[in-house]
Amino acid sequence: ARITLRQLLDHAAEHGYGVPAFNMNNMEQGLAIMEAAEETKSPVILQASRGARAYANDVVLAKLIDALVEIHPDIPVCMHLDHGNNEATCVTAIQYGFTSVMMDGSLKEDGKTPADYAYNSGITRRVVDMAHWGGVSVEGEIGVLGSLEMGGGEQEDGHGVEGAVSHDQLLTDPEQAVEFVKDTHVDALAVAMGTSHGAYKFSRKPDGAVLAMNVIEEIHRRLPNMHLVMHGSSSVPEELQEIINKYGGQMKPTWGVPVEEIQRGIKHGVRKINIDTDNRMALTGAIRKVLTENPSEFDPRKYLTPAMAAMRKLCKERFEQFGTAGNA
Ligand code: G3H
Ligand code: 13P
Ligand code: NA
Ligand code: ZN
Repeated sequence: ARITLRQLLDHAAEHGYGVPAFNMNNMEQGLAIMEAAEETKSPVILQASRGARAYANDVVLAKLIDALVEIHPDIPVCMHLDHGNNEATCVTAIQYGFTSVMMDGSLKEDGKTPADYAYNSGITRRVVDMAHWGGVSVEGEIGVLGSLEMGGGEQEDGHGVEGAVSHDQLLTDPEQAVEFVKDTHVDALAVAMGTSHGAYKFSRKPDGAVLAMNVIEEIHRRLPNMHLVMHGSSSVPEELQEIINKYGGQMKPTWGVPVEEIQRGIKHGVRKINIDTDNRMALTGAIRKVLTENPSEFDPRKYLTPAMAAMRKLCKERFEQFGTAGNA
């Protein structure tokens, strides 16, 4: 059945677990996530970005979610908008059946330019007021996501914020987090502590200087009842880098967020953990393998079936590692 982010994360907080929020753009990703949830008896957060909505078409996406919920009647499903950039994207997501929206006002509408506090708190509060009328949850973000190590500028995969971002902005100010929650009434709060989107987060295994989990602990101390969200939480597993590169890919060496750091976060109020890149890598590695080993193959099912299996495996691992398993 469909549930809201608030319902799901309240349960997660009560029982001390975290929930991976997996991005999806198509049927294969949707099936893989739901099969992993079924096999581990996990509640699910499916999230779609604006890019996913444009790629799949809103109507296709909405009916696909209906189908996934119908196929898995015992799995609680939260359908979440990832990185909504204005009121309209959030309202239209709700019209298509999303039970939760992220209003990311940490950046302006272009998704690149850091916004000031007044803009962020104002637009987030307007979305919260509107969404709550319809029983829909809202995630807000305070602080700008970006690499402390690389100075927050453009990252190698094209994600990244525009212009100079100060070191300060890349770490959420706990004081401002308290103010933001009071001003906006969000159900969940994304915070910045050094992660960034995409595969190229850290040039070596991250330590506390570049992945500031202590910021999360400080925010949790001040906001013990707030559900915290970690974006950019792919672990970018070395095995997946190796598979991709073995079969013709060209990923440069890189590090993501170690699972044990996420587990530490879960002990300190982190309830929603956003993962897209790891699944992209699992799918791509499997597809490259089939096509490299069988160059005469052209039936998409021949590479999409192993691709789904690789994604299902990764999702199952995260459900187990975050303590989500067994909570459906
Ligand atoms: O925010 C980043 C997520 O990985 C979604 O990416 O905007 O390319 O769909 P996307
Ligand atoms: P990754 O790129 O680390 O998977 O992060 C995804 C994300 O934060 C989506 O909002
Ligand atoms: Na989100
Ligand atoms: Zn994100």
